[in-house]
Amino acid sequence: MGLDVSAVRAMYPALADGYAYLDGAAGTQLPAPVIDAIGDAQRSGLGNSDGAFPASVRSDAIMAECRRAIADLVGGDPGGVILGPNMTTLTYRLAAALARDWREGDEVIVSRLDHDANIRPWVQAAGRAGAVVRWAEVDLPAGELPAGQYDALLTERTRLVAVTAASNIIGTRPDVAAITAKARAAGALSYVDGVHATPHGPTDVAALGADFYATSAYKWSGPHIGAVIADPALLEPLRPDKLDPAPDTVPDRFEWGTPPFADLAGTAAAVDHLAGLDAAAAGTRRQRVLASMAAAHDHEERLFAVMLAGLAAMDKVTLYGNARNRTATSFFNVAGLTPRAVAQQLADRKVNVWDGDNYAWELTGVLGIRDTGSAVRAGLVHYNDRSDVDRFLAAVADLTG
Ligand SMILES: Cc1ncc(COP(=O)(O)O)c(C=O)c1O
Repeated sequence: MGLDVSAVRAMYPALADGYAYLDGAAGTQLPAPVIDAIGDAQRSGLGNSDGAFPASVRSDAIMAECRRAIADLVGGDPGGVILGPNMTTLTYRLAAALARDWREGDEVIVSRLDHDANIRPWVQAAGRAGAVVRWAEVDLPAGELPAGQYDALLTERTRLVAVTAASNIIGTRPDVAAITAKARAAGALSYVDGVHATPHGPTDVAALGADFYATSAYKWSGPHIGAVIADPALLEPLRPDKLDPAPDTVPDRFEWGTPPFADLAGTAAAVDHLAGLDAAAAGTRRQRVLASMAAAHDHEERLFAVMLAGLAAMDKVTLYGNARNRTATSFFNVAGLTPRAVAQQLADRKVNVWDGDNYAWELTGVLGIRDTGSAVRAGLVHYNDRSDVDRFLAAVADLTG
């Protein structure tokens, strides 16, 4: 049946403010069932983990359900779902744990397509270990990350390949499966940043070949929770820093302090919400997630074609990136206006867009725009509709210098 965007939009109270929310790549709004799940968890009474009384049992059940839900979203094992405050924090944690046995002369590969959260933790960990950092380059202007270059980058000393499943500014979806296959053949692990990719279509960590896959619930209609998904057997030998009395089991060993249980309830509710985006989807939650995310992808693609054609038709607009396979994310500049001025004028027309590097620090650097405010990002998610795109295009057309 596909996605009924008016029915979807009706679930999001924030959309009633009349703004076109084209800022989803920086964080999505929450639908009522997610907001309710957070409130219901708080209302029901929550305790800390592993206690004898019902409120504590409820918290433990929420955490277990959150792991199952995220596993259903990405096709992983609930026993390998590490929960934390956000992707950046978890990536620093994993980098520290993985780098413990890196030696002088070992190598890691990062890419200039990535958000800095999947670059700097590895560069800094490598620096401490005396490991060498090698860079996968972006092929401009298309914005592709050619998988072929990894043949020359990988050596018998490569310990880890960090790569994004989608660029958060130009949307490029590299051939992650090809890159992780090369990494595996060379004996290296792969750490795939799925923060931008996850909301835009079905995810299957096994098909991606990702040893570690990172995602953030606030990019897919959930609260501010991050997760890293891995095979529990891969986590077993890792020894992150931890408190002595804290559980030493996997994945708990990687989770520091007391988690925000109500937000974990909201995260599971967000996966249920995504699973229902196509009302006709049937079967297990995993099957419904796959069908619904495919419907969300198709919906975004249709709107994105309109957005891109509209922008491309305006002489004053410079668009960045043109990858064959990409998310519904546009990144552009307007002649004679700073990115902030564009974002400000669009805000005056009730259109939310981001301006700046969006932490795609290396990519905005090689694009040569980082020192001039980078560019404007307007992205689509499942709750955007044609009126959002039309208002956005009209507002860009009317921009005054
Ligand atoms: C592609 C990508 N990776 C990583 C991050 C960092 O995620 P978090 O805010 O969960 O640390 C972001 C956030 O915008 C992102 O877009």
